[in-house]
Amino acid sequence: MGEALIRGLIRAKVLRPQEILVSEPDRARRESLVGAHRVRAAADNVDLARRASLVVIAVKPQAVPRVLAEIAPVAGASSLVVSIAAGVPLALLAQHLRKAHLVRAMPNTPALVGEGATAVSWGRGVTTADKAFVRRLFDAVGSTVEVDEGLMDAVTGLSGSGPAYVFTVIQALADGGVQAGLPRSAALHLAAQTVLGAARMVLELRVNPVQLRDQVASPGGTTIRGIAELEQRGLSGALIAAVAAATARSRELSGK
Ligand SMILES: NC(=O)c1ccc[n+]([C@@H]2O[C@H](COP(=O)([O-])OP(=O)(O)OC[C@H]3O[C@@H](n4cnc5c(N)ncnc54)[C@H](OP(=O)(O)O)[C@@H]3O)[C@@H](O)[C@H]2O)c1
Repeated sequence: MGEALIRGLIRAKVLRPQEILVSEPDRARRESLVGAHRVRAAADNVDLARRASLVVIAVKPQAVPRVLAEIAPVAGASSLVVSIAAGVPLALLAQHLRKAHLVRAMPNTPALVGEGATAVSWGRGVTTADKAFVRRLFDAVGSTVEVDEGLMDAVTGLSGSGPAYVFTVIQALADGGVQAGLPRSAALHLAAQTVLGAARMVLELRVNPVQLRDQVASPGGTTIRGIAELEQRGLSGALIAAVAAATARSRELSGK
């Protein structure tokens, strides 16, 4: 996820490669990041936190307390620290970092192709300028919404886990196409492009999906027949239940 952010920031020209500093304990991995993106390497996390005006913590959640303890002595009142670790609360960041400005963010894997959905929660000390910088950071790999931290489990259940639900939908649509006689590669392409196109219509036309759906479902036509089948088999209910179950699991995992 950290590398996806690096790629997006450079591609969107939010930062130049030489303005990005990476800290990575594994030497081969560090050299590969520097080689691939022309970014600079910090000696370690302390060196990075001392030099960077914005620090993104992109390690696994269980490694976060260790990294926070390392950078605590150098993260001062002018440091902006953004954690993308799932399930790690702002309170834990605040416990270790007594003065830094704090942000918690939850991106998702489509950030790898510049289409991530990120939710951010503002923590202690965050200024208007900090907010603008953080939004630019995540907008470089997709788009961003602001939520209260209490809703981060719901974000995990919807957009965090959501790509996997949609992959399942794409696979099933393609299977339907194959069953109807389409070659597999054509079916997969049509299914994925249909999901992408429908999503862009919702986002770009800013029209309620119900209205868009009604526009294509002509009386007695093929689409309404398909929709009737979907609803008889409980597609809407299944998706709503999936988000609820994943939200509950996220709550469980973060010990609530
Ligand atoms: N992947 C997602 O879809 C997603 C979505 C939202 C949020 N997140 C969050 O993003 C974070 C990273 O996830 P990921 O999937 O990108 O994990 P990842 O591929 O394991 O990346 C973590 C990186 O941090 C490095 N690292 C480990 N310990 C470190 C330390 N002490 N100091 C500096 N660097 C260290 C790792 O290096 P080594 O490989 O050498 O250990 C690795 O390059 C997680 O907290 C996750 O909850 C991920």
